[in-house]
Amino acid sequence: MTKTLLTLPGDGIGPEVIEQTIRVIDVLKEKHGLQLNVESALFGGACIDANGVPIENSTIERAKSVNAVIMGAVGGPKWANVARDIRPEAGLLNLRKAMDVFANLRPAICFPALADASSLKHNLVEGLDIMFVRELCGGVYFGKPKGIDILEDGSKIGYDNAIYSTGEIERVTHVAFELAKKRTGRVASLEKSNVMDSGLLWREVVTKIHKEYYSDMQLDHVLADNAAMQLVRDPKQFDVLLTDNLFGDILSDLAAAITGSIGLLPSAALGKKGEAGLYEPIHGSAPDIAGKALANPIAAILSFEMALRYSLDEAALADKLYAAVSKALENGARTKDLGGNLSTKEMGDAIIEQL
Ligand code: NAD
Ligand code: IPM
Ligand code: MN
Repeated sequence: MTKTLLTLPGDGIGPEVIEQTIRVIDVLKEKHGLQLNVESALFGGACIDANGVPIENSTIERAKSVNAVIMGAVGGPKWANVARDIRPEAGLLNLRKAMDVFANLRPAICFPALADASSLKHNLVEGLDIMFVRELCGGVYFGKPKGIDILEDGSKIGYDNAIYSTGEIERVTHVAFELAKKRTGRVASLEKSNVMDSGLLWREVVTKIHKEYYSDMQLDHVLADNAAMQLVRDPKQFDVLLTDNLFGDILSDLAAAITGSIGLLPSAALGKKGEAGLYEPIHGSAPDIAGKALANPIAAILSFEMALRYSLDEAALADKLYAAVSKALENGARTKDLGGNLSTKEMGDAIIEQL
């Protein structure tokens, strides 16, 4: 049966990078036998403008019934003042929660051709291949109570709740170890157990799962602040990095800069086996470059590459697409973020040429 992909272009550079991703999909369909229905729906600010909400219930239901969902990005200054519960980013959090995509795989790989585009020295990043497994449906992003209250003296307090249950930590820990099994067998678990009780529980649960199921594999506990430093000092010491929702968000942006540009890093948000995955470039809507044809489409195109691998059962096509991106970079294709002058579409062309 032909599988279905739902695209959610979103805001800012989101539609620009998804447009190139769809061109790539069309070539895979025409030239490489991919069978795929592609649908699209409004998301984020674009959906607020049209419907008053960042995502419609019908879109959430559709996202749960297709094989995979790919988004561009949401948010931007235009929607800075909408009510907090309907801001574009709230729509994204709702979608992740509704799809229950709790494990966010964020690979940070340095393409050989880009070792000099990194903010770190060539030898520190050459051959870098690390994988963040970021918990995506819990922690401080969703914890209650949260809010801003006015105190008697008229001053305010703002608060969020960093909260994790045993079950939430267990399921994402299994994902990290199962992935590491197919790599070098090493997991580094990052938290702040020295300060946070949710971090202390995180460490306890990860230790227990390691002991019960994966005792032949290597587990290191690294305090998240030290991990940030180690990522810049010597990123290749890591393999799989298991993190909570907030540390994973922050450290994967850091890892992006190490690989050359945030315009390169894809992600796959996965839930229970057999359920639809949500594929997202890790970058945002980049309001500073939106509409200027400057966006690098590679993060979005590689997010589709992950969809081929993890949701569409097309690993061979995923390999082909990855090789095409790698070859285009080898041939010198560079958008502005990588020091070049190709437009978004010209980068799409360079990849399509390799396909
Ligand atoms: P951002 O990732 O949008 O941009 C950070 C910097 O990286 C900017 O200078 C931008 O020009 C550059 N950049 C990002 N993607 C690029 C690409 N593909 N090619 C070239 N350069 C690129 O982060 P921000 O500016 O902090 O956030 C802007 C908006 O996006 C905010 O509203 C934020 O909430 C939202 N956001 C959304 C997502 C998402 O939808 N998944 C992710 C992150 C941020
Ligand atoms: C990301 C983004 C999102 C996050 C925002 C837009 C909700 O920064 O996917 O990295 O914080 O998870
Ligand atoms: Mn982020």
